[in-house]
Amino acid sequence: MKTVGLSAADAGAENRVGASVSDPEGLTRYEIRLGDGLAWLAARAANSVHAIVTDPPYGLKEYTEAEKRKLRRGRGGVWRIPPTLDGCRRSPLPRFTVLNAEDRGALIGFFEAFARAALPVVVPGGHVFIATNPLLSHLVYGALVEAGFEKRGEIIRLVQTLRGGDRPKNAHLEFVGVSVMPRSGWEPWGLFRKPCEGRVQDNLRKWKTGGLRRISSTEPFGDVIRSAPTGAAERRLAPHPSLKPQAFMRRIVHAALPLGEGIVLDPFMGAGSTIAACAALGYRAIGIELDPAYFAMAHGAIDALAHLRT
Ligand SMILES: C[S@@+](CC[C@H](N)C(=O)[O-])C[C@H]1O[C@@H](n2cnc3c(N)ncnc32)[C@H](O)[C@@H]1O
Repeated sequence: MKTVGLSAADAGAENRVGASVSDPEGLTRYEIRLGDGLAWLAARAANSVHAIVTDPPYGLKEYTEAEKRKLRRGRGGVWRIPPTLDGCRRSPLPRFTVLNAEDRGALIGFFEAFARAALPVVVPGGHVFIATNPLLSHLVYGALVEAGFEKRGEIIRLVQTLRGGDRPKNAHLEFVGVSVMPRSGWEPWGLFRKPCEGRVQDNLRKWKTGGLRRISSTEPFGDVIRSAPTGAAERRLAPHPSLKPQAFMRRIVHAALPLGEGIVLDPFMGAGSTIAACAALGYRAIGIELDPAYFAMAHGAIDALAHLRT
């Protein structure tokens, strides 16, 4: 059952609109809210989320109203709109190399605020999976460690992106043998954990967290995952510029709850690929999105994404 609407309890300026989907027994499977993920975390009860799986905005710049207007007009700004290649329309990419020192300071401040707000909400032993990129990951990781999360590794999503590989701009004929930066073939996801209470086994018993769910009894979760770019069928359902593919999201979301019990949060859910992956796996989930158009997209797309075969 799917319900959308305003309730008296939600009458504040933030998180006013929500939708929740229940299973046949009436248990809420997922809940999505229009609002600020940081404000939601600040208001949330302590120790009430078992994992965070998120792909946050970077530099905050690419999702400002001004930059989104430029993206939607198809020109200018931090979004690089690649030309149509071989009849294939490529997705726009944010150009992180245009961030200046002030932007980077704002980005560190944003991730510090996120990490400080997230730490009390996550249960002991709960993991955070956070998408990043090779140019900025150190800033994000530093903020999480500073707040008290333990770094537990990094997941390498092996995917061919359009980032890098280009010859020097306006001098490509002069420097035919030079790339300004490597052509990127991977996307890092930072993996963090709130410290456990006691041993992992004690924490697993008490909080249902502390480890990662294995793929099977003979195969542990691994940190290098081959992944195709998000396919056309998914992009048609949810045309968000940063939509992550279900095949990859289901792999990492599956690992996030070691016993398959608990709640997964995505405080920057975009069009809801994390929430759809949770729905596909039968995990409970909460998603928050600031932009009304992306929230509406998620609301319309999550069930369909969850039903896609990967
Ligand atoms: C990189 S995208 C996430 C895309 C998502 N992984 C998907 O597959 O659709 C980040 C999202 O965070 C949203 N956002 C930015 N600031 C936010 C905030 N303070 N609270 C909640 N959402 C925010 C943006 O509007 C954007 O949709």
